Amino acid sequence: MVSSDSDPVASIALLGDSAAAQATLVNIAATWQLQPDQLARFGLMLTPQGLALCQRDQPRFKPLIIDFVSGRLGYRYRQATVANEALARAVGIQGGYRPTVLDATAGLGRDAFILAALGCQVQMLERHPVVAALLQDGLQRAYFDKKSGIWLSERLRLLGVGSLGSEQPGLRAPEVVYLDPMFPARHHRALVKKEMQMLQQLVGLDRDADQLLASANTLASRRVVVKRPKGAPPLAGLKPSAWIPTPHGRFDLYFNNKL
Ligand SMILES: C[S@@+](CC[C@H](N)C(=O)[O-])C[C@H]1O[C@@H](n2cnc3c(N)ncnc32)[C@H](O)[C@@H]1O
Repeated sequence: MVSSDSDPVASIALLGDSAAAQATLVNIAATWQLQPDQLARFGLMLTPQGLALCQRDQPRFKPLIIDFVSGRLGYRYRQATVANEALARAVGIQGGYRPTVLDATAGLGRDAFILAALGCQVQMLERHPVVAALLQDGLQRAYFDKKSGIWLSERLRLLGVGSLGSEQPGLRAPEVVYLDPMFPARHHRALVKKEMQMLQQLVGLDRDADQLLASANTLASRRVVVKRPKGAPPLAGLKPSAWIPTPHGRFDLYFNNKL
């Protein structure tokens, strides 16, 4: 069962290993309006590291836990500079200027986190409630991190489960809207990490992604940035104002009102 793109299926097995863990998972499911289903292909577990997603028909995939401050992402953010992060240049970071950003396809929150680490105020939107639950769990743990918790809680927040184009309580109009819709893995299969494969299996292929561009341009006062894998056509077939190449693809830039 792979969810449809515009109406994500949020049925999930709750795999607590004790009565207390199961009760916590039931609460999490209620908070995010997930449908508990012990036969579902995906399951949620509580681990000492945090809330974890597992794909039950792919036991070789490690459970997916969002961990902002340690591991690979922690290493990347400690090394991140405007010079070595094309994403920084794509959103327009320059000198002391840091745009406000809405990441409207937040996913595992990695790009949003790097932008926050570089000093941007970043709001996130994610339409799949299971992904949003994992993201919020990762954020809560990171907010308590001694080294990065303070700046992170000031700069990075999840608005909730939702999509551009629908009412978003608490949304502050951003200078930049960032989009990274899911793209079929065959274009960069060798490069797709297992966690991204699992995310793709869960959320589907974002076949409605083209529709995001117009809403993003209406909202962004400066630019829309779209991440594309190598060889992918531009979103909605619209030629960007400029683009920045990266080792695995490119960032397409649409300067405000240039769609
Ligand atoms: C490729 S992932 C994004 C990865 C992210 N850039 C990162 O660094 O982890 C795409 C995500 O966008 C979400 N998504 C797709 N269309 C969306 C929409 N219209 N509104 C909100 N989220 C959307 C999907 O559910 C998926 O989690």
